[in-house]
Amino acid sequence: MKILVIGIKGQLARALIARRNRPGIEMVAAGRPQVDFERPTALGDLVGGTRPDLVINAAAFTAVDRAEDEVEAARAVNATGPAALARAAAAGGIPFIHVSTDYVFDGAKGSLYDETDPVSPVNVYGRTKAEGEAAVLAAHPGALVARTSWVYAPEGVNFVRTMLKLGAERDRLRVVADQQGRPTEAGALADALLELGQALRSGAPGGLLHVAAEGDTSWHGFATEILRGAGLSTPVDPIATSDFPTRAPRPSDTRLDLSRARSEYGIVLPDWHESLERCLAAMGTGGRRAG
Ligand SMILES: NC(=O)c1ccc[n+]([C@@H]2O[C@H](COP(=O)([O-])OP(=O)(O)OC[C@H]3O[C@@H](n4cnc5c(N)ncnc54)[C@H](OP(=O)(O)O)[C@@H]3O)[C@@H](O)[C@H]2O)c1
Repeated sequence: MKILVIGIKGQLARALIARRNRPGIEMVAAGRPQVDFERPTALGDLVGGTRPDLVINAAAFTAVDRAEDEVEAARAVNATGPAALARAAAAGGIPFIHVSTDYVFDGAKGSLYDETDPVSPVNVYGRTKAEGEAAVLAAHPGALVARTSWVYAPEGVNFVRTMLKLGAERDRLRVVADQQGRPTEAGALADALLELGQALRSGAPGGLLHVAAEGDTSWHGFATEILRGAGLSTPVDPIATSDFPTRAPRPSDTRLDLSRARSEYGIVLPDWHESLERCLAAMGTGGRRAG
């Protein structure tokens, strides 16, 4: 299976590219400056010239706070660009996977979000990602839009790396305890997307699909486990969202219902504790359990 991955240096893009030597997999990655969703790019030529069996879009404008002030850039990268890519894939009859986010929801439901729940984003990032989902599915009705959440990896900009840095520098940390989600390791997500790509190629239906780690927690719970796994004893105080103002509002409880992925595609990601341990070990900081 020849896969065209859009994105090179991002967390998910790197995790996908790291799987390029798996048996039966050939991978071509394209990212900036060759593919820049903020500039006109001949995506049809790229897709037509590469002739992939599957296209995976791992590129996104993920800076949630910055998106509030860079709406047009966020829209170009999260909606307009992916839609153009989806059109190019559809024109070639090529299966397409686009990745989206739990932040398309406002978090006020009070129970797990499934794929039938209407979107209700509370910030520009979520709004432009929701626009992207709709635009991709309109351009390529067979596309699979995989919503995931709280992505982290051994490299890149993410919560795990921030907590390890702050946990080593500071005497105590204060972390929000009233937002809940499913921390999802990029490698586990990449594995699932490759399986889903095979399924799409075999004729499985596309549409919206929730793909995230098993288990859930708060940012405070996640931070506590990160420090514990890395052997750091820095205390972590739980605080409320209102104690930690951010440029973009955050949804409070975006835990995704994973039933469709399990029942229709047989996809179950590892529990987040297990993936976190693997990530910390890969970073050379963990695999140890303190306390
Ligand atoms: N990070 C999270 O917590 C999270 C949570 C839920 C869902 N998701 C979704 O998961 C997917 C993967 O996210 P991630 O965490 O891997 O993101 P990331 O680490 O921030 O990487 C973003 C990728 O997008 C590329 N990109 C940014 N602007 C671009 C542009 N103008 N044109 C083309 N490419 C551009 C970047 O390219 P460069 O390498 O050139 O910078 C990078 O490869 C995204 O769809 C995201 O919305 C992420």
